[in-house]
Amino acid sequence: MKGIEQLDVKRIRQDFPMLGKTMHGHPLVYLDSAATSQKPQVVIDCIDDFYRNHYGTVHRAVYELAIRSSEDYQKTRHKVKAFLNASQVEEIIFTRGTTESINMVAYSFGKAFVRPGDEILISAMEHHSNIVPWQLLCEDRGATLKVIPMNEKGELLFDEYVKLLSPKTKLVAVTHVANSLGTINPVKEIVEKAHEAGAKVLVDGAQSAPHLKIDVQELGMDFFVFSGHKLMGPTGIGILYGKAELLDQMPPYQGGGDMIETVTFSKTTYNVLPLKFEAGTPMIAEVMGLGAAIDYLNQIGLDNIQAYEHRLLEYATDKLSHIPGLRIIGQAAQKGALISFVIDGIHSLDIGTLLDLKGIAVRTGHHCAQPVMKFFNVPATARASFAFYNTFEEIDQLDQALHDSITCLK
Ligand code: ALA
Repeated sequence: MKGIEQLDVKRIRQDFPMLGKTMHGHPLVYLDSAATSQKPQVVIDCIDDFYRNHYGTVHRAVYELAIRSSEDYQKTRHKVKAFLNASQVEEIIFTRGTTESINMVAYSFGKAFVRPGDEILISAMEHHSNIVPWQLLCEDRGATLKVIPMNEKGELLFDEYVKLLSPKTKLVAVTHVANSLGTINPVKEIVEKAHEAGAKVLVDGAQSAPHLKIDVQELGMDFFVFSGHKLMGPTGIGILYGKAELLDQMPPYQGGGDMIETVTFSKTTYNVLPLKFEAGTPMIAEVMGLGAAIDYLNQIGLDNIQAYEHRLLEYATDKLSHIPGLRIIGQAAQKGALISFVIDGIHSLDIGTLLDLKGIAVRTGHHCAQPVMKFFNVPATARASFAFYNTFEEIDQLDQALHDSITCLK
């Protein structure tokens, strides 16, 4: 792994127009990249340039604009394939985001492979979007949802996981990095055990793809999903990576244009991958923007990003641990760059509001992970999440603002 001297954060920050803004008279300290990342100018320019100078549909016409759009759209698919080290470009499906990708697998994999009495395993630290689609599937198919427990640090109990696996297990759906705790799960080992039991694995990469180098062939999962907007790209675009041999056996998720081969009133045949899963005119500009975001991240280097963000995490953990009454929720040995915390006697929403008045943006609430809040017996947490454009000085500002908030509220 390369050192952090490879990252010139001061210069990088100039790429992001939003990072130069002020809030309530203070420079914006943006610590909510786990919710959504800020956008570099190259992504904004790419979308602007496409709409101004090159806009045309994809896959539907022979005129020059449409041909060029189709080529550029497909170029992004190749960029995503390389980004994930997928073996085939047909395994990359454009969706509207992580949530849609998971729902798509729940619906289509469920229809193809899940029967009454089968089991789906998820973990105790999932985001609602990796819980509810499986509940819907289980209700629909007469299957059972089982939950892999975790310990007080927010780490999965691996032995319990292995005990839950059985010939009934059809799919294991786990997060790579937990959005409410930061835990990095050992997905390679999870996949190996699932495959030994004959189960498939979906990994929710919403919080990992922007921060860790992903190699789907090395990790071995059957499905990997993530969103563009957390990865410096636009909203409304996400990825479903799936192994071709599985996607080929799964029925389409939606019917419409592009996903068909032939249509008659009595029978429709479907297009090949990936178009079988891309009904309707797609998110063309968003796909172009995602391509620009991936180019941008590749220039900086995921290894550099991971190393730098880990330093930020260690620094922030040390600082926040010294704040009286502050408890970090999620203390796994392997963590991504986010810290969820509560402060004795102060509601998280009040913390969020006081920080906002100093220009510091953190997320507060249940983080779409109510079962996690219940496990830790807290109604909500405040969460500071970092990206490679954050600085150690911003963490000092967070630390000072938290000390001031405690003084003000107690
Ligand atoms: N899943 C996103 C978050 O954790 C929205 O904030």
